[in-house]
Amino acid sequence: MTDPSKEQTSFINWFRDSSPYIHAHRKKTFVIFFGGESVQSEFFANHLHDFALLNSLGIRLVLVHGIRPQIEQRLKKNNHPSLFVGPYRITDHTALQYVKESVGTVRVEIEALLSMGLANSPMSGAKIKVSSGNFITAKPIGVLNGTDFCSTGKIRRIDSAAINAQLHNNTVILISPIGYSPSGEVFNLSAEEVATEVAIALQADKLILMTENNCLNNTDQQLIPQLTVSEADALLKKSQNSTIKPSLTAAIKACQENVNRVHLINCHLEGALLLELFSRNGVGTLISANSYEKLRAANTHDIPGILELIRPLEVENKLIKRSREHLEIDIANYSILERDGLIIGCIALNTFPDTTLAEVACLVVHPNYQHAARGQQLLTHTLSQAKQKNIFQVIVFSTQTTHWFIEQGFQETSLTSIPEIGIKPQQIERNAKILHKKIP
Ligand SMILES: CC(C)(COP(=O)(O)OP(=O)(O)OC[C@H]1O[C@@H](n2cnc3c(N)ncnc32)[C@H](O)[C@@H]1OP(=O)(O)O)[C@@H](O)C(=O)NCCC(=O)NCCS
Repeated sequence: MTDPSKEQTSFINWFRDSSPYIHAHRKKTFVIFFGGESVQSEFFANHLHDFALLNSLGIRLVLVHGIRPQIEQRLKKNNHPSLFVGPYRITDHTALQYVKESVGTVRVEIEALLSMGLANSPMSGAKIKVSSGNFITAKPIGVLNGTDFCSTGKIRRIDSAAINAQLHNNTVILISPIGYSPSGEVFNLSAEEVATEVAIALQADKLILMTENNCLNNTDQQLIPQLTVSEADALLKKSQNSTIKPSLTAAIKACQENVNRVHLINCHLEGALLLELFSRNGVGTLISANSYEKLRAANTHDIPGILELIRPLEVENKLIKRSREHLEIDIANYSILERDGLIIGCIALNTFPDTTLAEVACLVVHPNYQHAARGQQLLTHTLSQAKQKNIFQVIVFSTQTTHWFIEQGFQETSLTSIPEIGIKPQQIERNAKILHKKIP
């Protein structure tokens, strides 16, 4: 067998690394919101190609677009005032005409881009079916505090059964921020609210909001990678950034109504969607309804993720090499720490027949998630599992982490003091230290 070139190796690694995400996202429902600004951005065609790629990977996709700047441009051109009360536009008769024009134009542009199929383009062979329809029933906001909002409306009902039927056929749903009343009137709706309510009605797996800016920490202006709902709420109260506020409001509402993952990603970053969904670190802010980490027993589906986690340490000789076959045989011994569908930690408990001794092995926490007691959490979990199996002492072989284990109550011991069955020749060869702990 010949070795692949450096470029080929990096391609193979990239492709293999994305496979756990491809599996995790397949058949999941994602609602993606993008504002009218994003439709006008230079990257818009690329974003649409990425939506097409998600569709071809088996993700059930609902796209919700905004039209705010498109309406503004029409109002300005015709010297018609743009009136807002709070976040809501007052949609008078003229503004409603511009709403309809903007919806028509933007929708047609999106449908056209999703219908591309030129050879040598990212859309070659994509053959995407797009469905836009009367999925949303609306009602007027009416008169509030003396102000008549005219044709600005609120969502009354979402026909989730009709949307689901289309999604089932692998059709991409494209929703515009308008709704119709049973009396046949058209209402202008907030696109963020439409996306949020659609995600809630479908109980979507993810609501993805493509924002104008990154969601930044108020103090150091750094990107915030994750927020719980209460953290998002605190940030919203303090935030001075008017463009991120509607997205934070939408995220909090969605999370409170059982949409467990909301991603805020910057629409001006090329490839942002793919980086957020198919790379470990992501590039946006994940707002999550519940604690997004789970410690559980591993199964064979977790093997690619475990391999991805341990390979760098094997290369550095910090861990002994474990083949895929080895993992397949021993997978029942492994526990994993999972975060948003990704494996960020693992540990194994290898038992031996007819003895109360077991070996703790393959304890790894991904470097991005270290120093937050996850290692300790994995170890405590494994020791309590061991106790349930009537194991009263454990050993571990370590070359680099002896002090960490000593801090967890392990003591260095010698080869002679452990039963022969627990001795691994590979570990002796690499001169690993043996540590021992009695389980109280
Ligand atoms: C060892 C490991 C699992 C700890 O994960 P973790 O989630 O960061 O662990 P905890 O948060 O519970 O503990 C972190 C503390 O241990 C310390 N620590 C981490 N690795 C250490 C090591 N090799 N030696 C001594 N102390 C270490 C950290 O400095 C930190 O202490 P601090 O908070 O005072 O700075 C993680 O560092 C790892 O995956 N290492 C590489 C894999 C490895 O060597 N595994 C052992 C195979 S047997």
